[in-house]
This record gives sequence, C-alpha cells and structure tokens, in this order.
Amino acid sequence: MKRTHHCNELRPAHIGQTVTLSGWVHSRRDLGGLIFIDIRDREGRTQSVFDPSILSPERYEQAAALRSECVVSITGRVRHRPEGTNNAKIPTGEIELIAQSFEVLNMAEVLPFPVDDPEVANKVNEELRLQYRYLDLRRPEMARNLRTRSKVATAVRVFMDEQGFLEVETPTLFKSTPEGAREFLVPNRREPGTFYALPQSPQQFKQILMVAGVEKYFQLARCYRDEDLRADRQPEFTQVDIEMSFIEREDIYALIEGLIKRVWKTALNVDVPTPFKRISFEEALNRYGIDKPDTRFGMELVDFSEEFKGSKFGVFGKCIEGGGVVKAINARGLAGATQGQIETMTETAKGFGAKGLAYIKVEKGADGATVEWKSPIVKFFSDAEKAALTTKLQIQEGDLILFAADQWLNACEILGKIRLYCADVLKTQGKLTIPADQFNFLWVIEFPLLGFDREQNRWYSSHHPFTAPVAEDMKDFHITGLPSVDLKKIRGQHYDIVVNGVELGGGSIRIHDPNLQNWVFNEVLQIPADMVKARFGYMLEAFKYGAPPHGGIALGFDRLIAILCNTPSIRDVIAFPKTAKGTCLMTDSPSTVEPKQLRDLHIELKVKPVASGIPA
Ligand code: AMO
Ligand code: AMP
Repeated sequence: MKRTHHCNELRPAHIGQTVTLSGWVHSRRDLGGLIFIDIRDREGRTQSVFDPSILSPERYEQAAALRSECVVSITGRVRHRPEGTNNAKIPTGEIELIAQSFEVLNMAEVLPFPVDDPEVANKVNEELRLQYRYLDLRRPEMARNLRTRSKVATAVRVFMDEQGFLEVETPTLFKSTPEGAREFLVPNRREPGTFYALPQSPQQFKQILMVAGVEKYFQLARCYRDEDLRADRQPEFTQVDIEMSFIEREDIYALIEGLIKRVWKTALNVDVPTPFKRISFEEALNRYGIDKPDTRFGMELVDFSEEFKGSKFGVFGKCIEGGGVVKAINARGLAGATQGQIETMTETAKGFGAKGLAYIKVEKGADGATVEWKSPIVKFFSDAEKAALTTKLQIQEGDLILFAADQWLNACEILGKIRLYCADVLKTQGKLTIPADQFNFLWVIEFPLLGFDREQNRWYSSHHPFTAPVAEDMKDFHITGLPSVDLKKIRGQHYDIVVNGVELGGGSIRIHDPNLQNWVFNEVLQIPADMVKARFGYMLEAFKYGAPPHGGIALGFDRLIAILCNTPSIRDVIAFPKTAKGTCLMTDSPSTVEPKQLRDLHIELKVKPVASGIPA
C-alpha cells in the first residue's frame, strides 16, 4: 500500500477518490459503533473512519486495537464530513477518509508523554522531552521548528551564493588557542600528551582563507565552547560564518541587512525595513544599561549626576565626588511592587558590588487625593533635586523610581538588568505588551578595542585579538609604534547585530598588518613571544605573504531560528540539544569509556568516573 497523498492534502475536490495515507495514529475515538482515527504525518493530519458495516469483523477488531502512535497505512474513499462535524482548525477539516483496508506497519507502546495535545505537552518536564527527543520532535510545534531551520539554512545558502560567496568547510579537529571560552580537547593517540581542540569558531581558518584569495567565504559552521550553558547557549552550536576581503564595515552592514531581509521574508513573509539603526556601545549603556538593548520598550536610564552633585543624600553625593554617577529609571505602573520583587532587584544591585538600591514608590497619599513619594531617602532631597526628578522622569502616580549610584559602567549595568526585570514583571501583569511580530534590529558599534581585567591586572580584547582598531585612533602607529590615544580609548572596528535584546551576531574588520598584530599580542595582551609563536605563529607567518584587508561576522544560527520560531530557548530549535549540564539525556553522553580506549590514548584517570557505566 503505497502512500498517494500526505495527511494535509485532501480537500473536497478529492471527494470520491480512493487514496492511501501513511503515518501515525494521532488520536482515536470510539463513537456510536464507529472508530475515528486521526492519522498524522510530517505534513498534517486527516480524520479516517472505521465502519463495521464496511470492514470485516476481524479487520474492525484490529482497528479497535490500534493505539496512539501506531504506524499505519490506510486506504479508503474521501468523503464529505457529515453536516456539522467539520473541523475548521485543520486544512483537511472538511473531509474524512472512510477506510476500506489498512495495514499496521508497527505497533507502539504507551508513550511516556502525549504528543497530540500541545497544552499537555508544553507542561511536560523538559528532561523527559530530551530523553525521548524522537517523540518530542513528533509534536507539530517542534516539527515546525525543524522545518523553519531547514528552510532558513537553504535561504542563507542561496542568498550567499547569489552574492558570490563560496561555502568552504573548515576543520573541526583544530588546535588549542586558549583565548576566549574554555575549549573541548581531543587527545591524540599517535603522540601522547598532544591534543586537538574543537574550534570555538572558524575565525583563524576564515582569515587564512582570505590570505588564500577566496575573497568571499561563508559556512554554516559548527562551533564548540565549554562554557556555562543557558537558554541561549549550547556547548555546540551553529554560526552563519562570513569573511570578505577588500571591504569596510559598511559592506558588512549592507550584506547582513540583505541577508536578514531575505530570511525574514522566507520564514515569516515579513518585510524587514533597512538600513538598521545604529547605536554606539557608550550610548547603548547610557540609555539601556546593556550592549544588546531591547528597544521595543522605553524605561530608559536617565543620568542625574549633575543634579545630585554635592547632594545632602550622602550615598549619591559621595558617589559623584568619587567619580561615579547617579542614574535612575522610571518603571511606570510598578509602584505596587512587592517586597520580594524589591529584594530581587536589590540583590541584583548587590551582585554588582553596590550597597543597596534606592527607590521611590509614587503612590496616593493617606488623604486619598495627593500623590506621595514613599521612600526613606526622599527627606534628604532638596527641592531642586525633586524638581529635576519630576521633570526628567516625568513622574506620576503609580511610578516606581529606581536608582543606581556607582562607577559609570556598574551603574549602567545594574539598571540595565533591573530594567529588563521590571519589563518582565510588567509583561506578566499585562501592563506592557510587545507584539510578537515586532523585530527591532540594531547595529551596536564603536566598542572599546580593549577591556581591563583588574583581578589579573591585564588588558584583554573586547572581541578577539584579530579585531582592527579604528584607523584614526592608531594613525601614528606606523611612525611611533604606539596608538594615538590611551589604550582604553582605542575603538575597535567591531560591530554586533542585536534584535529585541538578543545578541544575534558579531564581527569586525581584522588586523592584516603583521606588525600591528604582533603589537596587540606582545605589547597589549602581553602574551609571551614563544606562546604567540606556538599558538598563532602560522597566522603571523601567513600574513607576511600578502594578506588582503578583510573583515567578517558570524551570526548565531540557533538564536536566529529561535527568534523566527518565537521561542525563548535555542534548545527548541536544535534537534538534539544538550541539557544545562552539557549532557545528552537520550544517548546518555558524555559517558565512561573502556580501559583499553584510555590506554590507547595514554590517559590515566586520577579520579573514579562518577557516571555509571563501564568502570575505567
Ligand atoms: P562571537 O563569539 O561573538 O564571534 O559569536 C558569534 C555569535 O555566535 C553565537 N553564539 C552562540 N550561540 C549559541 N551557543 C553559544 N554557546 C554561542 N556562543 C556564541 C552568538 C554570537 O553573537 N569568530 C567571531 C565572529 C567574527 O569575528 O567574525 C565569533 O565567533 O549569536
Ligand atoms: P544607607 O545610607 O546605606 O542606609 O543607604 C540608603 C539608601 O540608599 C538605601 O535605600 C540603600 O538601598 C540605597 N543605596 C545604597 N547604596 C546605593 C547605591 N550604590 N546605589 C543606589 N542606592 C543605594
């Protein structure tokens, strides 16, 4: 019995035809001597009817024994559903299949969780879903995510091909270059004590491809990072990785805007307006307290450092005196915040080393007429300070004003976190609604090239050590061998693309001058010369033989798909993701290995493996 149609295809136009459908028993109901079976395949579902007056008693009995998720092939005639039984929710809801014969291709045991009811399935514990991932993926929502992923991957390849890019595969058995996240190591059997590392990204290979004259490279590249996992981070993930020669930042912006336009049109039939807005790193922090701002709502940070200079309220006055700033946000509608919510926010501030979190609840006074600022700190404020708060924050009844007094970056980041927390609370209270189809794309630019690690007392690259500084900040370098501005003031030619508060991708124009690259490694990052040679020697060598100016970007493909599928977790768009602990519950990996395998690799364990399995 060969399938003639998919389960989403049949319409009134097929009435009278004999067809064969193959798939899974999605649901079954016994009604008035008839058995109704919804058969489901990848594309959709169709109702079939088993009638004892048509089927032999044995066949009917066999149909009665079919359980959910058995695999069947059903042949029958298409007919109209009886008056009043149409199902408008499914495309095949006007017809049904009256079974003439059927074949049971496989039986199924009772499932650990139902896959036919999204309401129930969404409440199933995620660990169970991951353990039985093949069942989870049968759910229409998950199947839809896989399909979107596949369609978008194709759209990306077609678009990049049209733009003249070559897809080049780069090795995933790479070399350890411990910058950035922790790496996964792979022991080398042939030479004890040596290791491959899985690449965190194809960064070095793609730059070498530019030296090789490829000019326009892209790859849907698998990357590996052994870092703390969250909803938006997996130990292995996919990037749309891109590199181009003879270009400037503007070329990357235009290319990616075109790519995003194509992807949104393909996946959602949405026309994304371009060009995207741009915001400097500094402005993003000043206004939103984060370098990946969600600009779908306001609640912007407002600076009060001028107004509170010399303030009687010591916490603010002293902070400004010490070179810090005072910033505030107005969480409109949150005056009724609970003690628990205030505590959560205060803990956030404390997590950044602040002593506390000053706030004002703007509520109706005891007389029921006037508006009162309820806060123990207001009594210290001068009239001018209060007036400034009122105007700049447009204070009104129902507002919750939150303050951070700290060094600039800390104050911004504290309020940036609290702003997102308040937005979440307001969303659950129905006081803030964000349309599901709103996509605020943003380029974040002008990042500082370097950051300073106080604990380790050394500079580090904000992006990666191959990022080129802004030419203007280095204009004297070829004469003096030094930058034209302070190290901390050097801007990088680095850009991030952000959508709705998610860092979708990042990249930069690269250093192609070996002298400048050496200066970054040796003088700035202070990596000892022998270590630079061991780790990056081949790259510096390659750059000696005519490296073109080049730059690129990588988009997080999983994050891209999660946004398109409107799901908060990238686990929902990866067929076989890992848990937050980095394990695969379906295959039970990582797992212990045979002692012989370890011997072959010259590895001796100093601790007993905790995982159950074969003792090492
Ligand atoms: P970066 O490290 O910023 O840049 O990574 C680029 C994008 O990859 C995604 N991403 C992740 N997605 C899921 N799980 C993870 N653990 C994870 N880590 C990163 C993010 C991020 O924006 N080689 C450079 C790019 C370049 O300069 O061209 C790079 O890898 O969406
Ligand atoms: P204190 O004088 O330490 O009792 O603090 C007075 C108020 O200021 C309390 O409500 C604290 O939570 C708050 N506060 C303390 N430090 C900070 C800070 N760095 N930023 C904002 N508010 C603070």
